[in-house]
Amino acid sequence: MSDPGKQIVVAVTGASGAIYTLRLVQTLLHAGCQLHVVISNAAKQVFQEELGVTPPQQDEGAAGWLAMMQQIQQQSSVHWNFRDAFSAGESQLGSLRQYGLSDFRASAASGSAQVAGMVVCPCSMGTLSSIACGASSNLIHRAADVQLKERRPLILVPRETPLGMIQLENMVRLSQAGATILPAMPGFYHAPRGMGDLVDFIVARICDHLHVPHRLSSRWGTD
Ligand SMILES: Cc1cc2nc3c(=O)[nH]c(=O)nc-3n(C[C@H](O)[C@H](O)[C@H](O)COP(=O)(O)O)c2cc1C
Repeated sequence: MSDPGKQIVVAVTGASGAIYTLRLVQTLLHAGCQLHVVISNAAKQVFQEELGVTPPQQDEGAAGWLAMMQQIQQQSSVHWNFRDAFSAGESQLGSLRQYGLSDFRASAASGSAQVAGMVVCPCSMGTLSSIACGASSNLIHRAADVQLKERRPLILVPRETPLGMIQLENMVRLSQAGATILPAMPGFYHAPRGMGDLVDFIVARICDHLHVPHRLSSRWGTD
């Protein structure tokens, strides 16, 4: 369904919303994307806190992430009720390679890599601030810096409330530098059936900005 082999960097940081990451990775994989995944240490704590699991290890690849999403849907006390994002014929499984946070030899750390887009989902205020000041002190910050300097899509999915002046100023700075600020703020006007639809509201917007086709949610004015 998607451009075959589109390379996308998925960075996961320690803001609330681990379920967004799992659903995003599942959707992008089924859309045939080649994912480069990087996880911060704080994100591992959030996964444990919110989903009761440790994110897949580096050597588990796409299969580990898809199995984790399946496990969460079957065993979690939350009834996510996700809809099928693709019909069987449409799904075209991509690939996933996971990198260490300090692996500056990863291809995403260089502007020469053919990365179509990067998403930080969810994006903590700490990572947002580091990207805003160009810190490049870990692979997530560096890969985001590369996207901005190469003028390629960078989507940040912050989750914090309320927002302080420094956080708001960082968002303005990043937006002016070319990033898309896409807050994890689901709408309620599409009559969600449950938690899965609320998660999909955000994942659908991320996919739209990455130009990855999907059927996660209906579009306003088309039904
Ligand atoms: C359970 C949990 C939930 C958190 N939720 C948020 C959040 O929603 N937004 C945020 O900016 N930070 C949140 N934090 C704090 C960040 O994890 C912390 O600032 C950390 O330093 C971010 O590091 P990172 O950007 O390298 O992932 C949370 C931490 C924990 C343990």
